[in-house]
Amino acid sequence: MTAPGTRHLVLIGLMGAGKTTIGRACAARLGRPFVDTDDLVEASTGQTVRELFNTIGEAAFRELERDAVANACNSPEPLVIACGGGALLDPTNRRRLTEHGLVVWLRASPATLAARVQHETGTRPLLESRDALIELDRLTALRDPAYEAAAHAVVETEGLGVEEAVAAVLDQAARCSV
Ligand code: S3P
Repeated sequence: MTAPGTRHLVLIGLMGAGKTTIGRACAARLGRPFVDTDDLVEASTGQTVRELFNTIGEAAFRELERDAVANACNSPEPLVIACGGGALLDPTNRRRLTEHGLVVWLRASPATLAARVQHETGTRPLLESRDALIELDRLTALRDPAYEAAAHAVVETEGLGVEEAVAAVLDQAARCSV
C-alpha cells in the first residue's frame, strides 16, 4: 500500500458520469495535476479518440489506453486521474489503479447518463449511430461488475450538482487519507 497522501485519486464510471468535470474540480481543490486517460492517448497519438476508433479501431485504442493508465499510475506526483469508461474492463488496468490509487466510482442511472451526454455530440464513438439510452443501459449491465470490483468507494451522483459531487468525492479522499 502506498503511503497516505501520496496515492492518486482515481475517478471511474460510465460516459456521462462526470469524471472529467468533477476530477478537474477535485484536482484544483487538492492542488494536484489532473489527467484524463483520453487526453493522454490523444496527446501521444495526435489523434482524437473518435479518429482513433475510426482509423486503428477499438482494440488498438485499448492498448494505447492501457499505456496511458500505466503512465498516469507511475507518476511520482499524486494526481487526480479520470479514466475512460472502458478502461476498467481490462484486468491489468484494474490492478494498477487499485494498487496506486483510491478508486472512486461515480455512479448514475442510464437515463441520467444519457441526458448528460446528449449535449456532447461527436466525442464518444461508442454512442454514435446508437440510441444513447439503450447503449448506456447495455454498458451499465456489462461494466458495473468491473467498476464494483475496482472501486474503493462509490459516489451516487444522481440528483447531485457538481459542487455536491466534488464534496462527496473529497470526503471519501479525506477518509482514506489520499
Ligand atoms: C469509452 C469512454 C470514453 C472514451 C472512449 C470509450 C468507453 O471516455 O475512452 O470513447 O468505452 O466507455 P469517457 O468515459 O471519458 O467519456
